[in-house]
Amino acid sequence: MGESNLDRFGHLVREARSRRRFNEEAPVTREQLAALVDIARAVPSGANRQPLRYRLVSDAAEREAVFAELMWAGALPDWNGPEPGERPGAYIVVCDAGGGATTAVDEGIAAEVILLGATAAGLTGCMLHAFNKAAVARVLTLPDDLRPLMVIALGAPAETVVLEPLAASPDGSTNYWRDAEGVHHVPKRSLEDVLI
Ligand SMILES: Cc1cc2nc3c(=O)[nH]c(=O)nc-3n(C[C@H](O)[C@H](O)[C@H](O)COP(=O)(O)O)c2cc1C
Repeated sequence: MGESNLDRFGHLVREARSRRRFNEEAPVTREQLAALVDIARAVPSGANRQPLRYRLVSDAAEREAVFAELMWAGALPDWNGPEPGERPGAYIVVCDAGGGATTAVDEGIAAEVILLGATAAGLTGCMLHAFNKAAVARVLTLPDDLRPLMVIALGAPAETVVLEPLAASPDGSTNYWRDAEGVHHVPKRSLEDVLI
């Protein structure tokens, strides 16, 4: 018996990890970014309000300006984020055009679909909430009625990430860690732990 569609979907979801180091030389095209947003605009939305707007960032000067406002991997305090050459090739900045109570849910659904789509396309990414929202709005000259919610960093993968059982966590917490070879480990709760 071959892999079922559900097996393949599970594989894609497990492969769609947060990666924070990229091959900066490998281009991410505007067409790829627009294709990801085109898929994300089809997802469910609270009351079908569709409050999200997406700013594509691929130009080198804009990428540098956005990068300067991002905070990477809070659980790795000795790491200040990707070095030149391993920085994201593009960003999608998810913005709120005025949605109401369910905007954050819409944001999460859209962001995961973008990450899954990027993974299916051979790219990788990381959702970021830790960034200077006012500064990103300013450097991208966003209209006043758009509030940046999330930056999704995207690029060609240059980092190995593996899922681990929570029991493997060195300090027993849900914090991710990086080993001596630079492999990034992400502990996840077991099925038994999350089924109630
Ligand atoms: C809502 C949200 C906000 C996040 N913000 C950041 C962030 O600001 N900086 C960062 O490096 N990672 C951020 N992440 C990535 C998480 O750290 C990551 O999802 C977590 O460590 C688990 O790793 P995984 O995505 O590979 O399962 C964010 C993830 C989510 C879902």
